[in-house]
Amino acid sequence: MDTDDRWEPGSLGEGTRRFLLEHKFGMEEIVTKLNILKDEFAHLHESNPIEHVSSRIKTLESLEEKMGRKGVPADSRPSFEEIRARVTDIAGVRVVCSFVSDVYHVFDMLGSQSDLTVREVRDYITEPKANGYRSLHALIEVPVFLSAGTVPVLVEVQIRTIAMDFWASLEHKIYYKYRREVPQQLLAGLRDAAETAATLDTTMEGLHQEIRGLEPLPDDVVRSLRAGISSDAMLRSSLKHLADPLL
Ligand code: GTP
Ligand code: MG
Repeated sequence: MDTDDRWEPGSLGEGTRRFLLEHKFGMEEIVTKLNILKDEFAHLHESNPIEHVSSRIKTLESLEEKMGRKGVPADSRPSFEEIRARVTDIAGVRVVCSFVSDVYHVFDMLGSQSDLTVREVRDYITEPKANGYRSLHALIEVPVFLSAGTVPVLVEVQIRTIAMDFWASLEHKIYYKYRREVPQQLLAGLRDAAETAATLDTTMEGLHQEIRGLEPLPDDVVRSLRAGISSDAMLRSSLKHLADPLL
């Protein structure tokens, strides 16, 4: 076998560079798809299920650490195929949505695109982790078109609400601050906070559905609100409209 087909510990040889680049390209394709959906919703729909999209490629250091944990240590010079099979989050994309229904909507829109293949789904929303972690995870395969041919690349997509994201970022900080030995009391606090976040999501979802069922504001009111030049009469009319269905 060509040496380029194997991992060279701690170095960015030709094979490793190609391997990481392929993942970067796959990640960029998914990000582009999500940004297209986000822009489409921004321009052509009334609400947007996507709040923001972020992405990252694992650093060489973090990848080698994970290869060690997954049974393909760098110094055993595993093939790129072996690494690909064991470490599935080399390319990671995170989508933050306002509402839980948006999480599933975004997943459906992505999963139904004909060039993407959903390889695995982990629904930590219906089945949260013991620590309280919630998110929808999907391993999505995307074809990357290179000069020498097409390479399928696996991208880990995490879709979650703002509340889930808030919780996960705090939990992550605590986990690293205590170097993975988090005191019991903090763990219990985090579980409580996860429940509070889940309750908030449920309440917000209910309000969201209720508001969606309301009549839209009249066009002239929307125009004046957007222009910020609402006359007294307009203002009264818009406030009345907003207040009525809620009273
Ligand atoms: P890892 O080896 O950590 O990647 O776990 P895994 O391969 O079993 O996959 P899993 O679906 O459990 O988690 C993948 C990713 O989800 C992690 O790398 C984190 O980004 C995120 N994640 C999973 N569990 C937690 C958690 O308890 N807290 C936080 N903050 N993030 C988590
Ligand atoms: Mg993972």
